[in-house]
Amino acid sequence: MNLKDKKLLKAAITAVGGYVPDTILSNEDLEKMVDTNDAWITSRTGIKERRILKEPGKATSYLAIQAVNDLISKKNLDTSTIDLVIVATITPDIHVAATAAYVASTIGAVNAFAYDLNAACSGFLYGMSTAASHISSGRYKKILLIGADKMSSIVDYTDRDTCIIFGDGGGAVLFEPSTNDYGWEDEYFRSNGTERMSLRIKAGGSLHPTTKDSFAQGDHNIYQDGKAVFKYAVSEMANAAEEIMKRNALDGNTIDYLVPHQANKRIVDATSKRLNLNQEKVLMNIERYGNTTAATLPLLLNDYESKFKKGDKLIFAAFGGGFTWGAAHLTWAY
Ligand code: UT7
Repeated sequence: MNLKDKKLLKAAITAVGGYVPDTILSNEDLEKMVDTNDAWITSRTGIKERRILKEPGKATSYLAIQAVNDLISKKNLDTSTIDLVIVATITPDIHVAATAAYVASTIGAVNAFAYDLNAACSGFLYGMSTAASHISSGRYKKILLIGADKMSSIVDYTDRDTCIIFGDGGGAVLFEPSTNDYGWEDEYFRSNGTERMSLRIKAGGSLHPTTKDSFAQGDHNIYQDGKAVFKYAVSEMANAAEEIMKRNALDGNTIDYLVPHQANKRIVDATSKRLNLNQEKVLMNIERYGNTTAATLPLLLNDYESKFKKGDKLIFAAFGGGFTWGAAHLTWAY
């Protein structure tokens, strides 16, 4: 395709799908595993239960593929017409080989290229920018963006700081050129790598390769300095959303929905308060799934899909390891 003749196209979400495993890990279950209790978890995070992918041999690609199957069950999609598959994840099936390539082959996206995107809890949000840009260029017409994480594979279930928070899940959306001028409108993204040790897996990378000691020290599990992350997330998620609203002349009345990363109900409450949003405009499902990292935003879209109307103004906001964060504005296209 000759790009010289192309004007930029607007990208729209034209289908969504989601999947969470059947096995429930409740706060009561966690009470038997670590020194915690339902009242503390509920009041400090808003989480009541999360889903866990238990079956051996099933990994992040399974969550992703199930989410795509759900999308396909709702939208007639010939997978051989997909141009690109992006999987946002921090829990790839295996290192080095992109999970997205395996997902693409398994779903029959035989004419697609595929790659993973790692921006932790902001992965899906960043991925939306990537997918929208590919569509805007005019070069590709169907992009499957998936956010999926098997967080249970990196959580230490003796560490109450992290095991109460995370769950497993996957969500998928299809991006196509907009046919009605609704779609990706604007984005504001930032990152700060000086804070990378506040939320990380220390070992297994090129800085701290795997050793016997790294296993013994639990350096292959996820760690977070909860307080530090909380403070930063509260202010930057709201700052980013506020900026995107200002730039697009939006306010609490004219926004239809806030789609916020589900890390902690208190972070979402603080963000929506600063944005002057009524509670019914703030999408939440953290109570049932916990923090599924790259899957939170597409799982929200999937859970609330039936509520959305053509032209609805959505604001997305996320914050995650890296640090990475941002906000975006999208108008719903169907
Ligand atoms: O998604 C990517 C970004 N991630 C986030 O945005 C997560 C941000 N952080 C958080 O959500 C919160 O910091 C946590 C939920 C992780 C922790 O909540 P907190 O209100 O910051 O708790 P804290 O670490 O300040 O601990 C308060 C108290 C402490 O006891 P003392 O020292 O006050 O006696 C902790 O020992 O709560 C205690 N505590 C617990 N008690 C029961 C910490 N974890 C638990 C627990 N159960 N699981």
